[in-house]
Amino acid sequence: MSVAKGDRGDPAEKERLEALLQESRRFPPPAAMRAAANAGDPKVYDAAARDLEGFWAEQAEALDWFKPWDKVLDWQSPWAKWFVGGQTNICHNCVDRHAASARRNKAAIIWEGEPGDQRILTYGQLQREVARFANGLKRLGVAKGDRVAIYLGMVPELAIAMLACARIGAPHSIVFGGFSADALADRINDAQAKVLVTADGAWRRGGVVPLKANADAALRACPTISKVVVVERVGAAAQAEMQAGRDITWEETVAGVSADCPCEKMDAEDMLFILYTSGTTGKPKGIVHTTGGYMTGVSTTHRLIFDIKDTDVYWCTADIGWVTGHSYIVYGPLANGATSLMYEGSPDHPDRGRFWSICEKYGVNILYTAPTSIRTFMRWGTDWPKRYDLSSLRLLGSVGEPINPEAWMWYHEHIGAGRCPIVDTWWQTETGMILITPLPALTTTKPGSATRPFPGIEAQVLDERGDPVGPGAGGYLVLTRPWPAMMRTIYGDSERYVRQYWSRYPGKYFTGDGAKVDEDGDFWLLGRVDDVMNVSGHRISTYEVESALVDHPGVAEAAVIGRTHDVKGQAIAAFVTLKEATKGSDALKGELREHVAHKIGPIARPDDIYFAAELPKTRSAKIMRRLLRDIAEGRALGDTTTLADPSVVQRLKEQYEEKEDA
Ligand code: WT7
Repeated sequence: MSVAKGDRGDPAEKERLEALLQESRRFPPPAAMRAAANAGDPKVYDAAARDLEGFWAEQAEALDWFKPWDKVLDWQSPWAKWFVGGQTNICHNCVDRHAASARRNKAAIIWEGEPGDQRILTYGQLQREVARFANGLKRLGVAKGDRVAIYLGMVPELAIAMLACARIGAPHSIVFGGFSADALADRINDAQAKVLVTADGAWRRGGVVPLKANADAALRACPTISKVVVVERVGAAAQAEMQAGRDITWEETVAGVSADCPCEKMDAEDMLFILYTSGTTGKPKGIVHTTGGYMTGVSTTHRLIFDIKDTDVYWCTADIGWVTGHSYIVYGPLANGATSLMYEGSPDHPDRGRFWSICEKYGVNILYTAPTSIRTFMRWGTDWPKRYDLSSLRLLGSVGEPINPEAWMWYHEHIGAGRCPIVDTWWQTETGMILITPLPALTTTKPGSATRPFPGIEAQVLDERGDPVGPGAGGYLVLTRPWPAMMRTIYGDSERYVRQYWSRYPGKYFTGDGAKVDEDGDFWLLGRVDDVMNVSGHRISTYEVESALVDHPGVAEAAVIGRTHDVKGQAIAAFVTLKEATKGSDALKGELREHVAHKIGPIARPDDIYFAAELPKTRSAKIMRRLLRDIAEGRALGDTTTLADPSVVQRLKEQYEEKEDA
């Protein structure tokens, strides 16, 4: 494992990082925001550091509990229990308690469909829809503790289904609608899900993603699924077939059911959901989140970081299939009684002004999006946002990967008109909630820095030996104290949980990210230090893509790397050695790319395929990805002395340089 992207010995990369740390622009919080801010007193940091449990208990008290907890935290590292003995229900807190308040007729979810259709669900309406679907699930035989897989596009039924699961205590496992049938089957089987909720299809840039057809293919290998609920979204366009006895439409599921469905009393530590994410091996990890701590963590961070006010329209552009959507489209905002906007489509459909037209149409006040999108908007030019009235915006957020200072500045100037603070929020599927971030009324921001740990969070940057590194030096980012929304385990593999996150530095949570801290104590995230790529904010392991490639009959061996890409952050480059009988051709490259898309999903489709006679390996037969990255990024080769046969990589480099010259 090498220390961070930045320290892999490449001078250009080093230079970029040094420039980053010399970033001298400072953006103090707007004074006007401070006066009315949800977090307006800097003492919150000290207070939380001094009395961690007191801080979180106070946050949890703002939520409804059926039974108060006996103990705030039981920490037997690495096993955490928060709000031990407490009973609550996150659906009650996100829906019912607002429906029973003055917020009853406030919009909970504003949904903008890709073809331009719209649906607004007030808290009162959401309560009814969720309760009915919860009863529908019960009628299908779903009971507390049963896992429900959800494979949908960004339709309101997705939020309704997850809240309905939470209501009856059935952990959900949402699978991003862009994943393939194989990926879906793996996740269903790992979670042993009983019911699948899907749709006939999903709209994607005017075309249809055949969700039901994918699900049907997946279910041939999923013996635990007994019922499939199908949302009718695209109609005839999908040509979905219903299987008698197994499949039932959403309408049929809720037909004739009562809207009275009491929220199950859940223990604080009962499982709320499983969400799969890529690790360093081929098998995705089922990240387990529980009820009380997660609810407290996401509502608190959402309230303080996004400074949410009752009159705000808040828009997080992520897909609910990822953790960002779980925590910051559904659970966090709704727990706070906010209006959360949900958009089904893509940023360039029907045109490149779509995001800004949505901001104008609904008067969006808070926008939370990803650097890869911002870089795409930069490419499209300032004319698009200029056409729309963005004056309602007051706060901007970024998440998913390090934001480069250029993109930060562009976002600040062209979307935020120089007046909106930017919160660059660092976190992970595993952390459940944002952990490193500015607080908009308190933190002076610097373009490219996620600034400092949230109150109650303690982060360190360590060297190989586990010693903290000084200001400006690169190292491994770890977290040293527990936080309420932290993952509790990997579903079905507690041993992997300990090994993966808590063994490298015993007693400390290993994030897998590289970081630096500057003289002011601000954190600069440097990207993954493991074999996990970040492609347009999507987390994909090199190993997963390699497994998909060697699954192709013509492939003998494959090595995959993420190479730097201007818009996506990283692009996927695959070095492939073919079996003797197979000849490399452009057609085969296309076939291999499609094969990976078919095995995992279009997000994992390699950008570049290189055929290689041999792959560069160390004497212990470990593929040296660092050198492959040098080739893919067109750089001089780094140190090759540990290779078993240095001529292999030399030949490979020449082969691809010739190509480029030609
Ligand atoms: C990885 C986690 C957290 C929701 C989206 C991704 C990278 C995330 C930032 C940021 C630098 C970031 C890290 C992290 N990452 N946010 N603001 N600055 N890097 O969740 O799929 O679990 O990926 O995303 O590398 O480890 P995820």
